[in-house]
Amino acid sequence: MALPWALAVLSLLPLLDAQSPACPNFSVPITNASLDQISGKWFYIAMASRLPGFKEKASEIHASFFFFTPNHTEDRILLREYMTIGDQCLYNSSSVKVHRENGTLSTSEIDGEYYDHLLLPKDPKTFMLASFPEDKQYMGLSIFADKPEATPEQMQQFYVYLSCMGMDKSEVIYSDEKKNVCLPLEKQHDEERKKEEERSETGTALD
Ligand SMILES: *[C@@H]1O[C@H](CO)[C@@H](O)[C@H](O)[C@H]1NC(C)=O
Ligand SMILES: *[C@@H]1O[C@H](CO)[C@@H](O)[C@H](O)[C@H]1NC(C)=O
Ligand SMILES: *[C@@H]1O[C@H](CO)[C@@H](O)[C@H](O)[C@H]1NC(C)=O
Ligand SMILES: *[C@@H]1O[C@H](CO)[C@@H](O)[C@H](O)[C@H]1NC(C)=O
Ligand SMILES: *[C@@H]1O[C@H](CO)[C@@H](O)[C@H](O)[C@H]1NC(C)=O
Repeated sequence: MALPWALAVLSLLPLLDAQSPACPNFSVPITNASLDQISGKWFYIAMASRLPGFKEKASEIHASFFFFTPNHTEDRILLREYMTIGDQCLYNSSSVKVHRENGTLSTSEIDGEYYDHLLLPKDPKTFMLASFPEDKQYMGLSIFADKPEATPEQMQQFYVYLSCMGMDKSEVIYSDEKKNVCLPLEKQHDEERKKEEERSETGTALD
């Protein structure tokens, strides 16, 4: 029996070799450099999640973009998010907690704290969030990019991580930038911020 077993093991080796590099390490500690990398404006591109009810909720989000402003000393990220739900723009600002040691970000919802593992692929123009990567019933993966549309290479990386977790392409929901109705609100906020800055500059000048 020794020989067939050895052959079986040998025939598995190339498979394991081909698969393991594709699987990300879900618990890479978050550093100041990773916080700098995710700082700025991001667009939601696509997601898959098995959380009950989530798919229904997520399919109503046609488009979303947000600004991450990390605070390195507080281990928090200010999140300013613009979501197009149906034909409406919803704006929300909240605080995301950074858990450096296990590489997770968490948000507080009414029903508790939700943890997402931050994944930084080689391409710094994207990042991904994985939730419950070990749990087939609840797992989820989403991809964000610095532009409203991801490149085929960026999507390929997402699909590789997705299949590595055991999920299927058919589970993916995609954003639709054409439905984004939040640009006027973003512009309005920009103008308000500029006015606020001018006002405070004049204020200091008068002191
Ligand atoms: C993931 O990365 C962490 C920190 O670099 C390391 O401690 C851990 O062993 C890695 N896990 C795997 C499965 O490689
Ligand atoms: C980070 O938070 C601390 C404590 O609230 C605050 O003093 C500091 O100004 C913040 N840093 C930045 C860059 O916003
Ligand atoms: C991260 O940045 C903060 C604020 O600049 C600094 O206090 C801290 O020492 C840095 N941590 C590391 C590990 O470099
Ligand atoms: C990550 O670390 C935080 C703080 O130590 C802990 O509360 C949380 O449960 C951990 N999350 C995961 C998914 O390991
Ligand atoms: C805004 O964010 C908070 C914190 O994440 C959340 O509890 C709340 O439901 C959000 N509101 C909307 C309208 O999305």
